[in-house]
Amino acid sequence: MMRQMSRRGKFITFEGLDGTGKSTQMRRLAAALRKSGHEVVETREPGGTATGEKIRKVLLDSETSALAPLAEMALMFASRAQHIAEVIEPALAAGSIVLCDRFTDSTEAYQGGGRKLGSPPVRELHRVLCGDLQPDLTILLEANPHVSVSRARKRNRRASRAGARGHDESRFEQETRAFFMRVRESYMAIAKREPGRVVIVDARGTPGQTHERIVEVVRKKLRI
Ligand code: TMP
Repeated sequence: MMRQMSRRGKFITFEGLDGTGKSTQMRRLAAALRKSGHEVVETREPGGTATGEKIRKVLLDSETSALAPLAEMALMFASRAQHIAEVIEPALAAGSIVLCDRFTDSTEAYQGGGRKLGSPPVRELHRVLCGDLQPDLTILLEANPHVSVSRARKRNRRASRAGARGHDESRFEQETRAFFMRVRESYMAIAKREPGRVVIVDARGTPGQTHERIVEVVRKKLRI
């Protein structure tokens, strides 16, 4: 009897500024893919594992003050290395589609661009700590940066008032407009450098319109 080779899954990441609707879009794509019979794993960074979620708390809590940019970058990669080993690689090996809310492009945009650490150290750390794992497709959601960031700020204010998980996640949203402009510029530079992997999706319409665009991209690029 011929043994069928199990096929490696697909790795799709969602990127963009805070408040562009990444999480909503990821959930909708997951639902659509499951409906058509695919095995889907939804995950996020920083986080995605028990250890990663602890690291996330340190990174996003506004009580974490004066974190050095290099320490911040190291923690992002610590969370990621654990995430790859514990969740992403096993799921891909099992043939699943992995949808991940942020990945190394976020580090290049936020720490490389926003914190001005530059792209080379981020790419080098990715090579050393993440085995240079590349997504098969990255969906970069693009909307008006001022609108998105103020949406994210409002959401976090609501969550911290409600005492959602006993801590807030607003450390990044407190950054300046100039910071987010640098983040956006870095994202654009990544998209330009790797047009085969990164697809910019217009997220200014309704969530339904954005979802349709994403489904089309996934169908065309990955034939799923
Ligand atoms: P989010 O889960 O709400 O998108 O929040 C994560 C925050 O962390 C967001 O402001 C972007 C930031 N971040 C980085 O600065 N670098 C990274 O590598 C990742 C994954 C996230």
